[in-house]
Amino acid sequence: MNKRFYITTPIYYVNADPHLGHAYSTVVADVQNRFHKLLGEETFFLTGTDEHGDKIVQAADKLGISPKEYTDRISMKFRQTWPLLNIEPDRFIRTTDPEHIKTVQLALQKVFDRGDIEFREYEGLYCFGCERFMVERELVDGKCPDHKVEPSHLKEKNYFFLMSKYQDWLIQHIQEHPEFITPERYRNEVLSFLKEPLEDLCISRPVSRLTWGVPLPFDEQFVTYVWFDALINYLTGIDYPDGERFKKFWPVANHVIAKDILKPHGIYWPIMLKALGLEPYKRLHVHGYWKTRDEKMSKSLGNIVRPEKLVEDFGPDATRYCLMREMVFGLDAGFSHKAFITRINADLANDLGNLLSRSLTMLFKYRKGIIPDRGDIAGPQQGLQEAITNLIPSWKNDMEGFKIHKALEDIWKVLNLANKVIDQTAPWELAKDEGKTQLLDDVLYSLMETLRICAILLSPVMPEAAGRILYSLGLEGKGELSLDNVRFGSLSPGTKAKKVKALFPRIAPSKKLTQTESSRKKGNDMKTDTKEESPITIEDFQKIDLRVAEITSAQKHPNADRLLVLTVKAPEERTIVAGIAEHFRPDELIGKKVVIVANLKPVKLRGVESKGMLLVAKDKTGLHLLNAAQGTEPGARIS
Ligand code: MSP
Repeated sequence: MNKRFYITTPIYYVNADPHLGHAYSTVVADVQNRFHKLLGEETFFLTGTDEHGDKIVQAADKLGISPKEYTDRISMKFRQTWPLLNIEPDRFIRTTDPEHIKTVQLALQKVFDRGDIEFREYEGLYCFGCERFMVERELVDGKCPDHKVEPSHLKEKNYFFLMSKYQDWLIQHIQEHPEFITPERYRNEVLSFLKEPLEDLCISRPVSRLTWGVPLPFDEQFVTYVWFDALINYLTGIDYPDGERFKKFWPVANHVIAKDILKPHGIYWPIMLKALGLEPYKRLHVHGYWKTRDEKMSKSLGNIVRPEKLVEDFGPDATRYCLMREMVFGLDAGFSHKAFITRINADLANDLGNLLSRSLTMLFKYRKGIIPDRGDIAGPQQGLQEAITNLIPSWKNDMEGFKIHKALEDIWKVLNLANKVIDQTAPWELAKDEGKTQLLDDVLYSLMETLRICAILLSPVMPEAAGRILYSLGLEGKGELSLDNVRFGSLSPGTKAKKVKALFPRIAPSKKLTQTESSRKKGNDMKTDTKEESPITIEDFQKIDLRVAEITSAQKHPNADRLLVLTVKAPEERTIVAGIAEHFRPDELIGKKVVIVANLKPVKLRGVESKGMLLVAKDKTGLHLLNAAQGTEPGARIS
């Protein structure tokens, strides 16, 4: 029997159009779905929209249309956005689907009949943004930390789900299944939350206050709390209770969410499943936030980036690649167009795109576009086989563990090695020497084989580019995309390659980009991020105070993985926060004489004030410090 894999995204509220944060979770799920297909597994991928509750009614009211009309409209936007990113779910579920409403009622009745739901009066603080009662200790300065508003005081009779009964069971389950919630920090967060006694969960809202919801099957004066309704989608989506799909896929359920909805998924949901007499889901994969200007990207904060605009600017594959490469799953990441452009130009246009075009050009020039026999001659190209052979198990492991950025990073090491092999073997020289025919064959074969295998490994993230690479190597058809084909040496000699257009054209750093929501609001365009390349005068240049500085101490930033906090002498002592933690160890920086911009306006970076900026040079191999000659005095001005 085939192995199976079931992957879900959160179902998104339809009170806002899709943004980059939603796109990230959905791309991750799509990448995982494609990866498991590549492994030969039978998969099912579910996404959809969450359409009941106060928030939706309020949003519809604002537009003066009915909730139904409103939800149809926004749900359609989500449905239409995903194909733009080549996201291919097997089912798009809406909580207003009649089938889902039936399933929610069935589930509620089961839990009610079991005696796990109780009717009573409750008085407390209610956050309309979260659509739930909150306790004092959750508030920050008296406000909901997510919505930054004071919750309202409410007193009403409601139905409560008696969660505390299952608290000990849940703690034990999490402890016995270390992979149940990952990365580990989120597992620990849930366990630490479970140290306090669990409050019972209010699962109803009186129709006097809200009618836009699933009616309780046992009391028509109430509708269902939106979270109880929403979580059940993961069951409806695979035809719970009697469907074939449910039997096949529930035991392999994997949920992808961001940390904002850890509590409902890490606590309510497993307990609901337990009360329904079901096994808990298999795994919960929790990621961090995409941020702009250090704040979570969200509609309420007005700093959102639209996925369709990114696709317009960069295309679907490059957007997917940047999303997967720029965020370490589990940690927060800052979004900037500039970082995406740098990434696309360096990794996609240069490393991958150039490798393909250089290799194809040589194959056409020296071998008429026909893949030659392997020469099996000793030379630097033989390192490629070893590198690929080592890459495959680590790639698989990383992809299975949602370390997608790491899997990509490792593929790039091999691509860069292939680029190096071209430089080292200089096929244009080999072509001049008749005695080197076999070596040239081997170099060309190894390059094509590297490209072919990397294309297969990249296909979950960049399905179009992978298809184009395989096509250019004369390989077509879905059959190529299988892990059975990743053995180095399985490319058949004699295959006729095809000429293709540049895989990823370079993007000019000055390209005028489609606006983000916030930049439009502020009336400026993306020039702030991607400076126009207009010449500056000598006076402009003289405004910049460049100085030699000696690094006297360096340590990791307490709140940000990418930053280092440096103390430098220039000649006075000052602190500089630099985004170089991924490139340098703190201890290797001490004593270095570097170049800084000394008169930059001080800024606080994640709580630490930075006075100035460290200058570095960036190329394909990474970042390099601009070292000043050892004798130079700290503080010397650079002119
Ligand atoms: N409707 C609920 C989920 C119910 S699931 C049974 C909901 N919807 S939401 O529209 O607010 O979506 C939240 C999810 O969107 C996050 O968990 C995450 O998957 C994604 N993101 C929204 N903003 C995000 C960022 N700024 N960064 C990363 N992901 C984000 O909660």
